Amino acid sequence: MYSEKLMEHFRNPHNMGELENPDGVGTVGNPICGDLMSIYIKVKDNKIEDIKFKTFGCAAAIATSSMITELAKGKTLEEALKITKEEIADALEGLPPIKMHCSNLAAEGLKVAIKDYLAKKGKY
Ligand code: FES
Repeated sequence: MYSEKLMEHFRNPHNMGELENPDGVGTVGNPICGDLMSIYIKVKDNKIEDIKFKTFGCAAAIATSSMITELAKGKTLEEALKITKEEIADALEGLPPIKMHCSNLAAEGLKVAIKDYLAKKGKY
């Protein structure tokens, strides 16, 4: 039921862990399954310079967070805010419909981390 690409990111997640002194942190819970996700970002010149994630979630949650870190790295904050759960799912060559809420967790976590950064800068 999972694509090969998704399994690859699940088995070998990219950017997993925590960042020291992050500029922004987003922790979100999934109301559907109760899983948790945290995204940490470092920002430089309005771009996501570094990003890591921690998740207590299913295989799809791990793969989608791995993929969102890949998609967001190097993007401007405005571009990163526009990453949708559909884009993450497409980049993973699809997600089973009952697993779409897992990619929502990754997309939401990133948004909250960016908003946290902007709030700390007094820009939000
Ligand atoms: S089932 Fe909870 S994030 Fe996937």
